[in-house]
Amino acid sequence: MLIGKSRDVRPSEITPRDAYLHRRGLLAGIGAVGLGALAGGADATAATLIAAKSALSTTEPMTLLKDVTSYNNYYEFGTDKGDPASNASTLKTAPWSVVIDGMVAKPATLTLEDMLKPVSLEERIYRMRCVEGWSMVIPWDGFPLADLLKRVEPLGSAKFVAFETVVRPAEMSGQRGVFQPLPWPYREGLRLDEAMHPLTIIATGLYGEPLPNQNGAPLRLVVPWKYGFKGIKSIVRISLVDKMPETSWQQQNKSEYGFYSNVNPAVDHPRWSQATERRIGEGGLSAKRRPTLPYNGYGEQVASLYAGMDLKANF
Ligand code: MTE
Repeated sequence: MLIGKSRDVRPSEITPRDAYLHRRGLLAGIGAVGLGALAGGADATAATLIAAKSALSTTEPMTLLKDVTSYNNYYEFGTDKGDPASNASTLKTAPWSVVIDGMVAKPATLTLEDMLKPVSLEERIYRMRCVEGWSMVIPWDGFPLADLLKRVEPLGSAKFVAFETVVRPAEMSGQRGVFQPLPWPYREGLRLDEAMHPLTIIATGLYGEPLPNQNGAPLRLVVPWKYGFKGIKSIVRISLVDKMPETSWQQQNKSEYGFYSNVNPAVDHPRWSQATERRIGEGGLSAKRRPTLPYNGYGEQVASLYAGMDLKANF
């Protein structure tokens, strides 16, 4: 049984009613988030976690749950936006454990339950800007990645954090085809100071429910000032390293995808402009595009991380 620390504000209090009504299990009562599925397998016990409201959340209208869970990128399940919702239910997300290794004083293999025991979940409503030019506003439930990294005590030599998604062709249809869009495992990375930044979270849920498989169950990274592809899903390994790790998208095409991938309207993708974006749910393809903001609107909090850096060279 996982019991989170209850806090004063329920997700329901800050969720627009139309979106909120899509949620399961919350209408009846106290705003408890059922994490039974997350707690594991046939023995799963109903768990109660209440995600606290965060001052780091945006107050912009949220993208409808049905769009968040049906318009996805998760190439392990296919490359069309609807593929993950159709195919990802085959991934067995319990039991789940994550190896945390490399340059740390206390390497660990943590079950999801061990990982969540000491954390207080927070609701973080973040903008997500995909490198393809669309965006959403998503209410994640999660906890700062920094809290997890502190537990394993990074050594002074650690400069970067490398992440890997699970590889299971038997359960991930996109890993079985003749055409492989990316090298597996899906790999991502952050500089250590980016990983320790308070905006960087490990998400375990959205809209007050455990993460749907298509969104990266049971845990994924969310770094709101970077393009969405940095938000690696279904993580099984986190390694502290001294050299900048190569990411899957860099391996696929180095000239198009850089390590930093900070949202930047002034640095175009080689094949399209990054100046504007389409907010999913705002009137379809004919809707007016909105201007993309530097660092996806989080510049006040993160621009100092990149002081003096050439952002065109370090794209
Ligand atoms: N993680 C893995 N393992 N595989 C992927 O294909 N796609 C990325 C990212 N994380 C991807 C991934 C991309 S391109 C985006 S935009 C976001 O997940 C999309 O997250 P969402 O489907 O939850 O909106």
